[in-house]
Amino acid sequence: MSDLSPRSGMSAAEIDDVVDRIIEQATLTEKVAMMSGKGFLAQIREDDGQWGKRPYRAGAGLDRLNVPYLWFTDGPRGVARGQSTCFPCSMSRGASFDIDLERRIGEVMGIEARAQDCNLSGAVCINLLRHPAWGRAQETYGEDPHHLGEMGAALAGGIQTHNVIATVKHFALNSVENTRFTIDVAIDDAVLHEVYLPHFRRVLDEGCASVMSAYNKINGEYCGQNRKLLTNILRHDWSFDGFVHSDWLLGVYKPYGASAGLDIENPEPLVYGENLVKAVEGGLIEPYVIDTACRRILRTLYRFAAAEDPLAEYTIELVACENHRALALEAAEKGAVLLENDGVLPLSIDIGKLAVIGALADKENTGDFGSSRVNAPYVVTPLEGLMRLLGEDRIVHADGSSQSHLADAVEAADTIVAVVGYTADDEGEYIPGDLVPQMPETVKEAIPQENGERDPRGGDRSSLVLPQDQVELIEAAKESGKPVIVVVVAGSAVMVEEWRDGTNAILQTFYSGMEGGTALARLLFGEVSPSAKLPFTVARNAEDYPFFDRTATAITYDRWHGYTKFEHEEIQPRYAFGHGLSYTSFAYRALRAREVNDTIEIEVSVANTGDRASEEVVLAFAHLPGPKEDTPLRLLKGFTRVAIEPGQARPVTIPIAKDTLRRYDAKRREWYMPKGQYTFSVGDRSASVEL
Ligand code: BGC
Repeated sequence: MSDLSPRSGMSAAEIDDVVDRIIEQATLTEKVAMMSGKGFLAQIREDDGQWGKRPYRAGAGLDRLNVPYLWFTDGPRGVARGQSTCFPCSMSRGASFDIDLERRIGEVMGIEARAQDCNLSGAVCINLLRHPAWGRAQETYGEDPHHLGEMGAALAGGIQTHNVIATVKHFALNSVENTRFTIDVAIDDAVLHEVYLPHFRRVLDEGCASVMSAYNKINGEYCGQNRKLLTNILRHDWSFDGFVHSDWLLGVYKPYGASAGLDIENPEPLVYGENLVKAVEGGLIEPYVIDTACRRILRTLYRFAAAEDPLAEYTIELVACENHRALALEAAEKGAVLLENDGVLPLSIDIGKLAVIGALADKENTGDFGSSRVNAPYVVTPLEGLMRLLGEDRIVHADGSSQSHLADAVEAADTIVAVVGYTADDEGEYIPGDLVPQMPETVKEAIPQENGERDPRGGDRSSLVLPQDQVELIEAAKESGKPVIVVVVAGSAVMVEEWRDGTNAILQTFYSGMEGGTALARLLFGEVSPSAKLPFTVARNAEDYPFFDRTATAITYDRWHGYTKFEHEEIQPRYAFGHGLSYTSFAYRALRAREVNDTIEIEVSVANTGDRASEEVVLAFAHLPGPKEDTPLRLLKGFTRVAIEPGQARPVTIPIAKDTLRRYDAKRREWYMPKGQYTFSVGDRSASVEL
């Protein structure tokens, strides 16, 4: 028997050679078997429906020749396996605008994946947040393509540092959850290339080696068998040489998905397997399609398997170790957005008694219960975090279920913190067993239902406002006349119009991970200054967002969404993209833009004009020339984060690659640089300078 397993240190030529030999020696059936996952349904049945208990066999593998398998684990808020570090959800990390932090988080995910026998990670989710009701908004970073690309590239790069293949998902236009298996998104080519794809390209250019296709259709064809997407764009236009695999179950419908460019059907050969073998034998699919897919899969797998590891060992002790938990805390501190503050924050440690109210105050609420769920060894809730910092005897808690208890708590306190927002029941991945009528019975049976029922859970939000009982909770707090701080836990924008007046501060923490409560206490009491900025727009009126219907099976995406839509239509949002306060103030001066080869370097001096140290996220926008009807007023093209001491100023340089200023000519299928004047601005609305 030949041993064609990967060896450490193999050169690219040696890898090519061994891959050729595998392809030569494998039978058609064996090659097709490498083009699908296997065993997931049996596993999930044995594990009582628990997602992520074991790694999933996700393609490759041929025992006869010692070819290893791909072993998959999910993300993005940590490794969705064992008891891993649970980071804040991606949207919170998006709000940090911290590339370096995201890369370090990626490294931890890489380490924890390796320590738990996985070599393929599904943590990099960069679908664009088109509408805040999208159930999986928490799994992505925000509404802006440039920002999505930079954050996703950092995460993928970090994961791959430890020789775990990162897969970027869901390719593409997956931003409605409840109908994700059926919805058909109509889009024109310019919008597709300029708005919905650049972030995928950015992540792949960084070296991310795998792509997961989306469930939905684009212009009439499922993404998992969409030739234009998987071959013309991905391989021809972008020269991507990694492999593409489907999303889990129902990611591809026809064996011709293989010819379209889908290399692996995950997690079971429901459509590939025998059908694909027959299609090749019957002449419907060329044998080279199979060889090409296997070559892409194996080259990638071998490249990663042969690379030198940065760590000597990946032991289970590394999972959720102290350093990793410290990183989860840092991320939670850097990812909370201070939306309002009349000066009540930071709280003084001599504050007297604090009422912490709301059912979410005492809940381990790290996000959705779908594939991204991370089962952390512990979760510090908001209440616990505040008790640890202030002392239990100085905190009164009422969950709001009893009016008299709530009134007593409010009465006893000097200041009130109301924790409101959502849970996995309100938003997240939507996984009822009977969602898809066409799902094979074997699949339905394999996914056990709680209490024997097929209750839907999560999915797209039904509304952008807080549940009525939470609004009443805030009102009760306000009526006391005491300072009220509202902490909002949610995956994206929550409308605040109904209850904002009369509150003293609003802090959006998102789902802040296993150390979220510790971070909350440190932020509220000023041990660290908030520094995050909104990676999306919060409207005053839900109607100001693009059309969204969670039951829609057809929808059109145009270019206008998020801040580009608000600015184009001259609508005042409640909180603009990039809004976020700190405990100090910043001033921007001396903006310069310089052309340096293929880059425009934006230089600006940022001064901390307050009396506290803080980090500042600096956003750089380009205002492109072009007709108003299809040219956004400005687009984010660069950002950075700097730490500045009070009274100090720091020079900041943000490079903008000229390439990213190009537009797409759909008729000619090419990018071009629009002629005219380019303007650059730096900062958010409150502290911006323009050039
Ligand atoms: C999700 C993917 C996930 C996969 C595997 C699917 O339901 O859409 O994001 O990676 O399951 O768990």
